[in-house]
Amino acid sequence: MNELPRPLLLVGGGRMGSALARGWLARGLLPSDLYVVEPDEGRRLAFVGAHVVAQPAELPPELAPQVALFAVKPQVLEAVLPAYREIARRTGVLLSIVAGKPIAAFEAVFGSDRPIVRSMPNTPAQVGRGMTVLFANPACGENERRMAEALMAAVGEVAWVSDEDWLHAVTAVSGSGPAYVFHLVEALAQAGERLGLPAELAMRLARATVAGAGELLYRSGESASALREAVTSPGGTTEAALRVLMGEQSLAALVSEAVAAAERRSRQLAAAGN
Ligand SMILES: NC(=O)c1ccc[n+]([C@@H]2O[C@H](COP(=O)([O-])OP(=O)(O)OC[C@H]3O[C@@H](n4cnc5c(N)ncnc54)[C@H](OP(=O)(O)O)[C@@H]3O)[C@@H](O)[C@H]2O)c1
Repeated sequence: MNELPRPLLLVGGGRMGSALARGWLARGLLPSDLYVVEPDEGRRLAFVGAHVVAQPAELPPELAPQVALFAVKPQVLEAVLPAYREIARRTGVLLSIVAGKPIAAFEAVFGSDRPIVRSMPNTPAQVGRGMTVLFANPACGENERRMAEALMAAVGEVAWVSDEDWLHAVTAVSGSGPAYVFHLVEALAQAGERLGLPAELAMRLARATVAGAGELLYRSGESASALREAVTSPGGTTEAALRVLMGEQSLAALVSEAVAAAERRSRQLAAAGN
């Protein structure tokens, strides 16, 4: 694992910002190397030992972070960025996790000569098992990319894309993806109930099955197909179910339609400026 860059500036200490910070601290970042801007007093309390302020004007004037990570909601981003113009000149790389906001939105404020990385994490980052996809602007060199990657790798897996446009598809697959899996749990539990199982037991079975299968997939070196085949004996119960799932109205076709809808929505939101 790469060493974490420091000092770090986190703008927005909400769900994702605080999950990232927990990951960094767990990987050895000293709280004294973390600066956080978070207007909500209750949320500020979560950053014990860090330098936590309510607004950027309260940051030390000499602060020169190696990375400044923007983790505010898309709706407020345009209003938030101008206050960081000065500090951006002293920042190694500007890193965004703000969904749907293009690199151009940052370049418009900070200049296209500033190294900027846009990323798309997902909620399992909260338990260190996220999937983050990153895209760097041309001003980023190897060092800047390494710094951005090290921060996101602290909460899970990372991958780079060379085309910013792919982030719409990435959003549709891994960004929104955890919700599809949670819905699978709901559907499996409902199916169990329909067969007469008590609701609570059906939900417990569905939840443990999806979580357990996910963990098996994570730990095993095998492909999803190989794991599926390993539990499917010819003529057995699993095969009977898979015949339906892989039949004419297949789960794959439905998922494909759902992911395409998410991708279209991502494009619409970007075109509307969110
Ligand atoms: N959660 C996810 O799974 C996920 C996945 C991919 C990307 N993202 C992106 O991550 C970003 C944050 O999402 P989130 O779920 O963590 O949202 P969140 O919990 O609402 O966090 C945003 C935080 O930013 C704070 N904030 C508002 N204005 C600010 C300002 N001027 N300066 C500093 N902080 C400010 C908010 O405080 P107040 O509540 O007081 O306004 C809040 O604590 C979003 O842009 C989202 O698109 C999230």
